[in-house]
Amino acid sequence: MDQLSNSSFADKMVMVLDTGLRTLLNNPNITERPDPSKSVSDSDLSEQQKKHIAGLMRINHCGEVCAQGLYQGQSLTARTKEVRDKMNISAQEENDHLKWTADRLEQLGSHTSHLNPLFYVGSLAMGTMAGLVGDKWSLGFVAETERQVVKHLEDHLQQLPESDKKSISILEMMKEDELRHATKAIEAGASELPMVVKKLMQLSSKVMTRSTYWI
Ligand SMILES: [Fe+2]
Ligand SMILES: [Fe+2]
Repeated sequence: MDQLSNSSFADKMVMVLDTGLRTLLNNPNITERPDPSKSVSDSDLSEQQKKHIAGLMRINHCGEVCAQGLYQGQSLTARTKEVRDKMNISAQEENDHLKWTADRLEQLGSHTSHLNPLFYVGSLAMGTMAGLVGDKWSLGFVAETERQVVKHLEDHLQQLPESDKKSISILEMMKEDELRHATKAIEAGASELPMVVKKLMQLSSKVMTRSTYWI
């Protein structure tokens, strides 16, 4: 990732394109962390339960696609190397989330969202713009995104059947990571976003969650 910090804009574009394709083709560069669901046993779930869990996991997977777009956009336009490097570590952890949620969807006999390319491009554009406005705002954008993701995860954890230990273990680990990503962005100098921006972000996340539950 240091490579990204020192490379030319054209090189960065190639790396962003590579990451984008890996994200959308379910082949992300993951860390060596194990999938938390591998250490818990599977349970019997009804077809109706599986369908609902798959809807929730599809939303979470698309959220990770968006996170990847956001971080990649910022890596193109972030002003300082320090910010880029810090955000790159978070982006790598988002890749683990991508893989874990995609694998869980497959185990449930379901699929990732067909709308992922659309949301990826939108998030990439937002991340790029946030980076252009300035590092403290782009970090503020990350902090707010992560906070909103944590709220979603908490809501989904409430909705999961208690017996679905596999999905629970994944979402709990993700929640822990997202909280740390938010803290990291704040410690790196994030500014608190204006309320109107936060509301717009909530609105766009509603569009994403309502559509990807189904498609
Ligand atoms: Fe994540
Ligand atoms: Fe995150």
